Amino acid sequence: MRVAVCISGRGSNLKALLDALDAGAPAQVVLVLSDRPDAGGLALAAERGIATRVLADSADPTAWLAALDGASVQLVVLAGFLRLVPAPVVERYRGRIINVHPALLPAFGGAGMYGSRVHRAVLASGARESGATVHLVDEAYDRGPILAQARVPVEPGDTPDRLAARVLEAEHRLLPAVVLAAAEAGRPVPLSSPLPLEPTLVKESACRAP
Ligand code: GRF
Repeated sequence: MRVAVCISGRGSNLKALLDALDAGAPAQVVLVLSDRPDAGGLALAAERGIATRVLADSADPTAWLAALDGASVQLVVLAGFLRLVPAPVVERYRGRIINVHPALLPAFGGAGMYGSRVHRAVLASGARESGATVHLVDEAYDRGPILAQARVPVEPGDTPDRLAARVLEAEHRLLPAVVLAAAEAGRPVPLSSPLPLEPTLVKESACRAP
C-alpha cells in the first residue's frame, strides 16, 4: 500500500511508522507532505530517500491532489499535522485518510486541541486515563469514525509534558498497527485486537518460569 504522511513538525510519528515498515512490509511511505518548510520530519524523509513536498498553501486542494495523485497514494496519514485537509481532498480520498490524535476522542479534540493544550485539558478534567486515537478524517478536526485507541494512565503529579510523553509512546505503537491493518485489508479498518504488549514485556512474560 502506497502511503503519504502529512506532518507539521518534528515527525516522531513519521519516524515510528518508517521504523515499523521494513522492506517487506505491505505498506511503504512514498511521500511526505508538510505545510511547514521547516518541519523536522522533512529532513528525516529526505535522509531515507522519500519524496517530500511543502504545501505553500495547505488550503489549496490542487497542490494536495497533484502530489497525492502523482504518487499514486492509497492511504493518507496525518501525523502531527495541524491543518484541516481541504474538503475536495477529503472527498477524493474519503475513507482513506487517517489521523492520530493524542487523546481519547471524542473527548479533548476539535479545533485548537493539539499539543500540550490537549494534555493540560485532560489533567484539568481530573480524568484518570488518557491515550491516543487513530480515526478516519472528514471535513472537521478530529471528528471521523474512530479506528483504534490506546489507553495510558494519568499518574499522580503528572505535568502536561510527562503525560504527553506517555501518550506519544502509545501513538508510536498505535499508528503503525493501524497502517499495517489497513495494508492487509486494502483500506483503513478498526483494529481487531488490542495492541500487542511492549516487546520487553512480552520477552519477560515469555521467559517467566511456568
Ligand atoms: C503528536 O502528539 C500527534 O498526535 C499530534 O502532534 C504531536 C507531534 O507529532 N498530532 P509528531 O512528533 O510530529 O509526530
